[in-house]
Amino acid sequence: MIRVHLVALVLINLAAAAAAQEPTVERTVQQDAADRGGWVARRTCASCHAVARTGTSPMETAPPFRDIVRRRSLSELENRFVDGAIADHPSMPDYVFRAREIDDLIAYLESLQAEERTP
Ligand code: HEC
Repeated sequence: MIRVHLVALVLINLAAAAAAQEPTVERTVQQDAADRGGWVARRTCASCHAVARTGTSPMETAPPFRDIVRRRSLSELENRFVDGAIADHPSMPDYVFRAREIDDLIAYLESLQAEERTP
């Protein structure tokens, strides 16, 4: 009898752990992508743009990323990355983005956009 109870307890715990873990795993994947995107942004964009939630752009004419994500949708930005238009902008060195880098940058911009929308 005790053993049956133990098995039941273990099963209930496993089910609870699985249920609790699912959203965590998803958030982590998204968070990992955003972290990598933040790294790409700091490495390749931060010489001109303010890439974080605060700070001014080193290049006066380069809009801070937090302003860009306020006025542009992520899908528009993603399209412009994919068709190379962003790598084209004046005074910006030629970058060839890999698909993975675009995904990561978009994940980073999405996290920035979410923060900007949180009062
Ligand atoms: C050498 C300076 C420089 C670098 C490096 C740079 N940018 Fe820019 N960026 C600018 C300037 C200047 C503008 C504003 C003029 C323009 O849009 O052409 C701009 C504009 C943009 C815009 C358009 C904003 C809008 O609302 O239309 C996006 C998006 C953008 N940059 C993304 C990036 C990303 C992502 C990176 C890094 C991968 C990056 N930039 C790196 C100088 C730079």
